[in-house]
Amino acid sequence: MNFTNKVIAVGGATGNLGAACVTKALKAGARVAALGRAQSSLARTFPDAPGNDALLLVDGVDLVDPATAADAISRIVDRFGRLDAVLNTVGGFAMTPVEESDTGEWEKLHAMNCGTALALTRAAIPALRTAGGGAIVHVGALAALDAPAKLGAYAASKAALHRLVEAAAAELRADEIRVNAVLPGTIDTPQNRKAMPKADTSKWVSPAAIADAMLMLAGSEARAVTGALIPVTGRG
Ligand SMILES: NC(=O)c1ccc[n+]([C@@H]2O[C@H](COP(=O)([O-])OP(=O)(O)OC[C@H]3O[C@@H](n4cnc5c(N)ncnc54)[C@H](OP(=O)(O)O)[C@@H]3O)[C@@H](O)[C@H]2O)c1
Repeated sequence: MNFTNKVIAVGGATGNLGAACVTKALKAGARVAALGRAQSSLARTFPDAPGNDALLLVDGVDLVDPATAADAISRIVDRFGRLDAVLNTVGGFAMTPVEESDTGEWEKLHAMNCGTALALTRAAIPALRTAGGGAIVHVGALAALDAPAKLGAYAASKAALHRLVEAAAAELRADEIRVNAVLPGTIDTPQNRKAMPKADTSKWVSPAAIADAMLMLAGSEARAVTGALIPVTGRG
């Protein structure tokens, strides 16, 4: 994968998958904007950023507030002159039985998983259009295809994101802006290892492998792929 002369924005760059996306995109030759909420987390996650002209840390991006998404995109275009792709890894998780959950929890997860993606998608469209087209890759969830017990609110929020991907892909096809999502099962993160010490981790997928799949979807080899919800559940 070669992203020389391309500019990629990574949403949720301080997270497990987001940090892997930043690393992989830089390795593939892109100039990368790492979007995060807190400057301190960005600085901790990317200690080498000050000496790296290809990496821009964009702080203050809390995507529950759409204005921060628009501000982030204009800072990226100011610095790098363009935007070619967005890899959005922002998301949150909660596990509650339906009987114990209320609409507040469902709305909170919807805002975290679908509202954030909507804000970043809307903010990125004009810049991608100006670049002559581009790609947006979100992170859905396998659990949203068939919700297991206790994941109703989470699965519903990711299912809403899946529908956002499909609708945006249909609307933006003529602009050559492709919108896709990867659907992980369980990601092999320190948090999951701590929460599920007895789990069979051979069924989990590494952040690096998911980042590769996201970059593949952002790249020219996937130029005809749009509106796809791709399970990423193999070994890797
Ligand atoms: N972990 C899994 O097993 C799993 C399985 C299926 C799907 N997924 C999805 O995969 C994606 C990445 O997972 P992960 O394990 O890498 O998650 P993670 O480590 O918790 O990272 C989540 C990232 O999202 C950011 N974020 C959360 N709310 C935000 C908001 N309102 N505005 C801006 N940024 C916000 C966090 O920023 P802060 O650092 O500021 O908190 C963090 O950078 C998520 O969308 C998740 O739902 C995960």
